[in-house]
Amino acid sequence: MELYLMRHGEALSASKDPLRGLSSEGRSQARRTAGILKERGIRPTHIWHSSKLRAKETALEVSRVLSLADMPRQEEGLDPDDQPDRTVMAVDALACEQPEARLLIVSHLPFLPHLVAALENSPGGLPTTEFPEAGIACLSPNGRGTWRIEWQATPDGEIAETVQAFFEHWKTYQKAMDCDYLGHRGAYETLGRFLARHPKRTLSLLDLGCGDAGFMSRTLPSARISKYHGVDQSEIVLEMAKKEMGRVACPQVFTASDFEVYLNESPEKVDLVWIGLSMHHVPSEGKADFLAACRRHLNPGGSLLVYEPMRVHAETREAYLARWEEVCRTHWPLLEDGEKKRLTAHVRESDFPEDLRTCQALGQKAGFKSVESLYQDPYKIHELVCFHA
Ligand SMILES: C[S@@+](CC[C@H](N)C(=O)[O-])C[C@H]1O[C@@H](n2cnc3c(N)ncnc32)[C@H](O)[C@@H]1O
Repeated sequence: MELYLMRHGEALSASKDPLRGLSSEGRSQARRTAGILKERGIRPTHIWHSSKLRAKETALEVSRVLSLADMPRQEEGLDPDDQPDRTVMAVDALACEQPEARLLIVSHLPFLPHLVAALENSPGGLPTTEFPEAGIACLSPNGRGTWRIEWQATPDGEIAETVQAFFEHWKTYQKAMDCDYLGHRGAYETLGRFLARHPKRTLSLLDLGCGDAGFMSRTLPSARISKYHGVDQSEIVLEMAKKEMGRVACPQVFTASDFEVYLNESPEKVDLVWIGLSMHHVPSEGKADFLAACRRHLNPGGSLLVYEPMRVHAETREAYLARWEEVCRTHWPLLEDGEKKRLTAHVRESDFPEDLRTCQALGQKAGFKSVESLYQDPYKIHELVCFHA
């Protein structure tokens, strides 16, 4: 299902209109945003609006521009100060009953940013999405029971900030990789030696969360790779990966997908599954299933190699995070304060590392024969672990 969240256009002041209907600029804003939908060939199948006149009039303008047959409908729970829970349930129910539906919801501040945070299941439910007058956000299910923003627009055109924010984040990550703060060099050299010693003459490799595949492309020996398959949820990094992998002469496939969704849907079998710095985003309770899904994709004798943040034995997540922050503060001088802050926020939000013993137990539960550590980075923050099928 596609979900469009839109804020009403500019309203008249209460002194001019006690019901606060749209001003002429507000009508024009709503029509311009509807024009963006029209250009993209988007025709909502359902339009819901709040009880306020400005939201209803915005919905009607959109409906007119798109020549929609069905009238927008007023729904409970969409007023400015409503809690998002009821709407999240209604949206999920519609997505379940009518996966092809395109739902447009017209509402207000502060409700809309709270609704996005609830749909994204963002940590602490913190609202971070901006909705200027008649601004719109398109969301889609991410395959893991929550939603993510695909794009945003104002009446004056699409907002590129989401892409910009991505690049800001990626630039910091790239710098940390280039300075070898994350131990990539040692990890990928270890992968190189693993490949060199492997008894099979040629190997197929599935790289989950491949990112830009820069280190991977400098590690893979062309003659030994029968197929490289990079999977990443970000189309932007996949484009980078295609370029980087240009230096490896082997058959290549790239898939834009959430890797858990991919693993559950694809029948592909490979000799090696590689995961570099992305499995730790899978919450602890989902890791055993994730590892089992990886194992199902391995040929007999195949291996899963994961290079991931790793807690030392019996360390709590909080103690790990404190150690991570200490290393970041004292050992990574080439990162600027803003970059450190951004990385720290990301790690605090989305890193769920395990320790080696837990990995071994999870690996056994997932049906792997043995689990061994192949490399640890100099700061003892990341470890390369091999699961033998
Ligand atoms: C930290 S980067 C690691 C890139 C590369 N593997 C490396 O070792 O440098 C994490 C990558 O995993 C991707 N990623 C994170 N969660 C994902 C998921 N659930 N499905 C697919 N890709 C994911 C991100 O888009 C990003 O490109």
